[in-house]
Amino acid sequence: MSKKTIEDIAVSGKKVLVRCDFNVPLDGETITDETRITAALPTIQYLLKNKARVILCSHLGRPKGEFKAEFSLAPVAKRLSALLGQEVKLASDVIGESAKGLAASLKDGEVMMLENVRFHKEEEKNDEGFSKALASLADVYVNDAFGTAHRAHASTEGVARFLPAVAGYLIGKELSVMGKALEDPIRPFVAILGGKKVSDKIGVINNLLEKVDSILIGGAMSYTFSVAQGGKIGKSLLEADKVELAASLIKKAQEKGVKLLLPVDTVCADDFSNDANISVHEAGRIPDELEGLDIGPKTIELFAAEIARAKTIIWNGPMGVFELPNFAIGTIGVAKAMAANEGAVTIIGGGDSAAAVEQLGFAGKMSHISTGGGASLEFLEGIELPGVAALNDK
Ligand code: 3PG
Repeated sequence: MSKKTIEDIAVSGKKVLVRCDFNVPLDGETITDETRITAALPTIQYLLKNKARVILCSHLGRPKGEFKAEFSLAPVAKRLSALLGQEVKLASDVIGESAKGLAASLKDGEVMMLENVRFHKEEEKNDEGFSKALASLADVYVNDAFGTAHRAHASTEGVARFLPAVAGYLIGKELSVMGKALEDPIRPFVAILGGKKVSDKIGVINNLLEKVDSILIGGAMSYTFSVAQGGKIGKSLLEADKVELAASLIKKAQEKGVKLLLPVDTVCADDFSNDANISVHEAGRIPDELEGLDIGPKTIELFAAEIARAKTIIWNGPMGVFELPNFAIGTIGVAKAMAANEGAVTIIGGGDSAAAVEQLGFAGKMSHISTGGGASLEFLEGIELPGVAALNDK
């Protein structure tokens, strides 16, 4: 990586402010998926082993600039204490007396956490005064919050202007795995894109069309492509204002010699519910009263065959409404096909597809599951992430 990392600077005896993405799903005070916490451990453990005084910070949810107890990082501090086997003291504020007092009393090899940085509205505004106040707590800044690296906020971007600023291991790993896939992939390189909207994926499709050998498109966004080809999609989700764009993406794929595969059949339902009556129809021939909620069995076979031939695979976005078990079969099929291709580099681009792979039990079979939803999408679009750009060059 062209950015300095924690291994490029001295940390012993230094106060090190580490921005993590501890924005984890909570059920009350119970963390329901701790992937982002365990992913932050290598950086924290490295710093503690090297006798740094570690000050962790993160956002959690969207409290909109005011203190709200349900957005406290207390459950994260507690879980992290257990995982590290040492106490993570939680300040009751972010830049106030509690934070300053705890930071001043930290000893080498000790760790504390600031409260949710989004309890201050200045955080999301990337306010200079707030960035300076954060910086004044420490001697060095480490960004390891890949999941928030696409946000130019005070704790991800602004603070880097006032301290030596380097990358942690998680950011390093995310950028090197996905960067290698984009810049120097082992071919054939296949991208699988799903999810609801074409509009969310335009940038990604455009960028990937320059890089991949095949693109497989599933999920509700495939219906807009179907309409662009003259298909009938019944009551399925359509972005009418994106039909022309879908047509132009199909054309661009042809011009670039990229194989663009769309579903050939669709699992349809008479209601958006797991108990709905289900039938399978040829893609583009969906009866008026039905809506498509998953890719069909022939499409799973078609996609699986393409996945089996690939040497690098990137997947972003589910193939159907995987939260409803009857419409999760396409998503499971893709996950299984990727898991079965043991010789390939398999990358899951965060968000819903990462959740699907975790829930369906295939996480251990993938080469890399990104901890960033929005961040990995922007990275795949080829956009420079502000939280990375702000770090010191080597
Ligand atoms: C995420 O979960 O995608 C990141 O933590 C960023 O959160 P945000 O979308 O609220 O900025």
